[in-house]
Amino acid sequence: MAHNYAKSRKPRETLEVCIEKMVQGGEGMARLPDGRVCFVKGALPGERCRVEVTLSKKDFARGFAVEIIEPSPDRVKPRCPLFGRCGGCSLQHLESEKQAEFIERVERENFRRLARTDLPAGFAIHTGNPWGYRNRARVVASRDRAGDREIVRFGFREQESNRIAFFKECPVLTPALNAFLQGPAREIFTDKRKRFPRELDVNVFDDGTGKVSFYYTGMPADDFEKYAQGVVDIGGKKIETDASVFFQSNLSLLPELVQSVRDAVDDGIASGAASDEWLIDLFSGVGFFAALLQDKFKRITTVERDHGCLVHAKANLEPRGDGASAPVENVSAPAEEWLRQNVVDKPATLIVDPPRTGLPNEVLEALVASSVNRLIYVSCDPVTLARDYAKLSASGFTIGKAEGFAFYPQTPHLEMLLVLDR
Ligand SMILES: C[S@@+](CC[C@H](N)C(=O)[O-])C[C@H]1O[C@@H](n2cnc3c(N)ncnc32)[C@H](O)[C@@H]1O
Repeated sequence: MAHNYAKSRKPRETLEVCIEKMVQGGEGMARLPDGRVCFVKGALPGERCRVEVTLSKKDFARGFAVEIIEPSPDRVKPRCPLFGRCGGCSLQHLESEKQAEFIERVERENFRRLARTDLPAGFAIHTGNPWGYRNRARVVASRDRAGDREIVRFGFREQESNRIAFFKECPVLTPALNAFLQGPAREIFTDKRKRFPRELDVNVFDDGTGKVSFYYTGMPADDFEKYAQGVVDIGGKKIETDASVFFQSNLSLLPELVQSVRDAVDDGIASGAASDEWLIDLFSGVGFFAALLQDKFKRITTVERDHGCLVHAKANLEPRGDGASAPVENVSAPAEEWLRQNVVDKPATLIVDPPRTGLPNEVLEALVASSVNRLIYVSCDPVTLARDYAKLSASGFTIGKAEGFAFYPQTPHLEMLLVLDR
């Protein structure tokens, strides 16, 4: 079975190759007859396939599998008809149960290559539902005329293209999100009294109770109040948020990440590597981790750049008024700016959860210079995590614990937790 890219293109020259391994991003790696490495989309380790080369550089090449000559026993038929066109879920041709095993191998190699270190032997990936897991997504909406009717449809951007791959039911979205996009969302966006651009990005957010919230740029303030707000229940704790700001996208696996973070905090305090005097949650979003750890600390600081998070962080960390809660400071500023003005001169407990780009250099430098001995690093991009770890290890940090969380099945992405000590 060839990768779907092949269908819409005029065939170019093809070569027969053997796929040696999977690399970051989920592509297969092969050697071309001239010795160059070639990254092949849609091919799995162990497979013999015919590749069409689309990019040829001096040191490496890229291409996609147009014919699988000897398939891997782990190859399956992709579930989604948009596989290969839609920009998401590029790992659907790999058996769901095998995905964590393959990604674990990729991340072990990633750390060896970028950080010159081995992830601990105990590094493993927590897995959850392989389908219907995604409670949050950015979709593109389009309103078209069909005779005298207006039709609203939703889709994702096609890979390497501005075209939209429209879907009726996306197999990785939660049933509540699919139902919302096929029903209520169409009615809302067909309303002619509302002024909408022809094409708009919508963030949809399922709060776990069946209510779906959404947001788009330019949303009127009264609609924002009506449609964008949401509340998520994590182990009995209600976290308020809205669809315009960051929130984690795999609610069913999230409690396992929270538990691992709580365990890392408890170990750190018990061993004396960190203290319960002060929790600093950098890149805190709506104060997610701090809110779930509030009971353990005397003092809490959350730092987040997106000003839209502040109102929620304040609500989520509101002192309970029973005298038991920590004094709380919610800072709306870039982490690097806060670190420029505040010295962390005690072994505080520090959590960082930066975006895919990883920690800004200035933040890394401040952490190295601080008195923090235990750093809990939550990451949605193991490549920038490995790069940041390489810099932190130069100042004596070592990996105490590493865990993976399969927050994005059918894609090569992985959420990771590193507990670093020095
Ligand atoms: C992966 S999210 C994590 C949010 C939060 N920890 C949670 O679990 O919901 C990263 C957050 O970092 C924020 N951010 C990005 N760059 C930042 C910076 N330089 N300083 C502070 N926050 C930043 C983003 O707005 C986003 O809310």
